Amino acid sequence: MKKTTNLVWGGRFKKGSSDLLKKINNSIHFDYQLIFEDIKLNKSYAKSLRKSKLISQNEYKKIDNALSEILIDVQSGVFKFSQDYEDVHMNVEMALGKKIGRLAGKIHTGKSRNDQVATDFKLWIKGKLKEIILKLKVIQKTIIKISEKNIDVIMPGFTHSQNAQPISYAHYLMSFFEMFERDKKRAKQLSDNINECPLGAGALAGTNFCEINRESLARDLGFAKPTENSLDSVSDRDFVIEFLSILSILSMHFSRLSEDFIIWSSSAYELIKFSDNLCTGSSIMPQKKNPDAAELVRSKCGRIYSSLFNLLIIQKGLPSGYSKDLQEDKEPVFDAYKTIILLLDIVNEMLASIKINKKKMFDLANKGFTTATDIADWIVKNTKLTFREAHQITGKIVLLAEKKNKLLSELSLEELKSIEPKINDDIFNYLSIESSISKKKSYGGTEHTQIKKAIRRAKKKI
Ligand code: ARG
Repeated sequence: MKKTTNLVWGGRFKKGSSDLLKKINNSIHFDYQLIFEDIKLNKSYAKSLRKSKLISQNEYKKIDNALSEILIDVQSGVFKFSQDYEDVHMNVEMALGKKIGRLAGKIHTGKSRNDQVATDFKLWIKGKLKEIILKLKVIQKTIIKISEKNIDVIMPGFTHSQNAQPISYAHYLMSFFEMFERDKKRAKQLSDNINECPLGAGALAGTNFCEINRESLARDLGFAKPTENSLDSVSDRDFVIEFLSILSILSMHFSRLSEDFIIWSSSAYELIKFSDNLCTGSSIMPQKKNPDAAELVRSKCGRIYSSLFNLLIIQKGLPSGYSKDLQEDKEPVFDAYKTIILLLDIVNEMLASIKINKKKMFDLANKGFTTATDIADWIVKNTKLTFREAHQITGKIVLLAEKKNKLLSELSLEELKSIEPKINDDIFNYLSIESSISKKKSYGGTEHTQIKKAIRRAKKKI
């Protein structure tokens, strides 16, 4: 009689799966992306079975060779993923069966798909973290290159989207170097957190095949050690949530960078210009050049955050142990990964191709009385007045400049003295935006030598 129940787990079933069950249960259409990790895992596992004498050397060779052939088939694109075998693990096991027959049935000795999928996914995330770190370094190198050329370029620094204090364009760019450095650090930390191998935990309780050395199995797969608790190993996907948190924060940084550039490229500012190849035109307005790439970078974080929320919601209240809900952890992660890789490449190209308008940046930095804090600081340094008193006095100087329609540096000594008699002509060393920048010598400040030092420190980090 033809067997209609599932070949792997159908022993206790009288009826086969309904088409609807297959539709909701099959994951091969997305978890095929774990096939490289799954083959790698099976190869290491076969080695462990041999070492623990659960299979012979001869059996090991046959299994290992067949897995190598499957790998070549996948790499060359001839491997056929089949919906008949619900997920990537079954597809690999079935392909093994086609090559070596009954012997393939030994590869699952003491292993469960529960510990297998958790291990595959950790391996996959470890690999992607490396790729993300490398791409972040490329962006950081681009930032350093542009910063070195633009230390002298003065622009307004903003708070509340209002002109606040003059800064160097290099200082602005280097602020993102630091954000990306922390993104990298978070990714490295996760690589460390993720360094325990779930394989050998079995379905949840551990395995009867204690001759399998979990230590060497873990090391063979590139982990530092095995996980400590078999139930935890198959229950938790906190590492997936951490991965998505890292991607969310990174995409938030990209979003803010894009927003700055979008605003500065607008007709109201014209501080920067995007390269034509990252913009689109309008179907009706012939004059338009729209910053679509930057706008999409700005918005894609929504998609990545939704993956994070997806995973947080899936795992909220999930009972301990493996539940099929956990299969739903993959698609949001694959989508977030694909998105972040696109963003990493585009942001690098965007940064490298932006043209800045130095004159407009300088002129804007001069608007809005951006050196008022420098006046207050001068008063504190040169009189016995407190900062609060100096703040009040400077506020009056700003009002006067506003009334006379002058820059702070254009006010005469008499005008300044009319508000505070203790002011003398030394204050003129503090009023221009150039002098304001030249005085910001505090560690990490926007003064030129400080920026150069910051760049030197940054270079050591990449
Ligand atoms: N495809 C499954 C997943 O991704 C593999 C684990 C299946 N385990 C089970 N007990 N049905 O979660």
